[in-house]
Amino acid sequence: MAVSVTSNICSSMSSLSVIPNDKIRFKCVNQYDGEDIKRLYHADNLDVLNYLLNDKQVCGKVDLIYIDPPYNTGGAFETRDFKHAYNDNYTTEGYVRFMQARLELLHILLSEKGSIYVHLDSNMVFHIKILMDKIFGEKNFRGMITRKKCKSKNFTRTTYGNISDYILLYSKTNSPTWNRPYEEWSDEKILKEYPFIEEGTGRRYKRVPCHAPGTRNGSTGKPWRGIMPPAGKHWQYTPEKLDEMDAKGEIFWSSNGNPRRKVYLDQSKGIPVQDIWLDFLDVNNQNTSITGYPTEKNLDMLKRIIEASSKPGDLVLDCFAGSGTTLVAANELERQWIGVDIGDESIRVIQERFIKGTKPLGDYVTKKNKDNLFTHSLFDKCAFEENDEEQSIVDSIPKIQYQLFEEI
Ligand SMILES: C[S@@+](CC[C@H](N)C(=O)[O-])C[C@H]1O[C@@H](n2cnc3c(N)ncnc32)[C@H](O)[C@@H]1O
Repeated sequence: MAVSVTSNICSSMSSLSVIPNDKIRFKCVNQYDGEDIKRLYHADNLDVLNYLLNDKQVCGKVDLIYIDPPYNTGGAFETRDFKHAYNDNYTTEGYVRFMQARLELLHILLSEKGSIYVHLDSNMVFHIKILMDKIFGEKNFRGMITRKKCKSKNFTRTTYGNISDYILLYSKTNSPTWNRPYEEWSDEKILKEYPFIEEGTGRRYKRVPCHAPGTRNGSTGKPWRGIMPPAGKHWQYTPEKLDEMDAKGEIFWSSNGNPRRKVYLDQSKGIPVQDIWLDFLDVNNQNTSITGYPTEKNLDMLKRIIEASSKPGDLVLDCFAGSGTTLVAANELERQWIGVDIGDESIRVIQERFIKGTKPLGDYVTKKNKDNLFTHSLFDKCAFEENDEEQSIVDSIPKIQYQLFEEI
């Protein structure tokens, strides 16, 4: 990976590769020219990302990237049906090199409004944070989400129970797409935060100060209704605005004559989401429907990420697609998407998921539905043409464009 790249490279290139020709492992062997992008690539993502640099529909136009790469756990993963999914054993140096090559390509592919979420555990998150600071720029680091991944366990190791992993968030520039997510108020939190009910209207509200820190020389630093703001503070609004609010009944006067502003629950969008996420446990830890792929992530978590950092119609990319959680979430939220995975089992699971959805966890435990597994590949069109029932299933699934890469 010797070639240095710049972010406006997409527009200027004619045929660009950041991989030396003799290192390319997979070559694309089919073309299509669909307008709406819903693509699944089966190959090493290094080759696919490199290939996408020359795709004018994609390069510099990816609005959101979520990746959940192998975490360098030193293990190998199997599906619930005991099929090999992927290996996860690198040296630390090898892992960082592996990620660097891919992150550099992802940086070029990202649009000016784009964001990238990288999901890791405590093994590698700090190595990759330093790497991303270099590639995306320290100033574009937007935060690190701590996710609770499983319920508490009885750990036998001499340390604290490990129930968290991390998502690094970077943007390409300082103006990424951002739709702040909110959580709904629970009854318990409402009672605590908005304890008062307005007479006459029945509106629930809380009381907050009318002043803010810092002194001012203008009208907000002068007395209002004969009252000075407390020492070192100023009124949040001009006297005229405070009069207006008082006339509307939006100021509460305490028994000793102190004004407080009323903030109403019905004007709140909810609780702004913070950077500790407790509600998106791995699917295998919830009584839910799953694909059986070993590291399948929570679909609702992906929906939150996609809604927060993209708009309908935007292009979402996951080049470690696994069971296709990102792709399904993007599809349901009417985004365009590109998925890449190197594993045969991943591609099979993604295809099955788009056709048949997920299955209850119990089905894997009892193996009741073993015969029900989807056996054909969507790449293998002829398989369906022989069977009317399967052909009608295929007709009903999203029109996904499968772009095939072959190992050279
Ligand atoms: C942790 S899993 C992703 C799980 C996914 N987020 C989900 O919800 O199912 C990592 C995936 O990366 C894939 N992978 C590993 N190395 C790859 C490579 N070089 N190119 C493409 N995919 C790769 C593995 O096959 C595996 O499916």
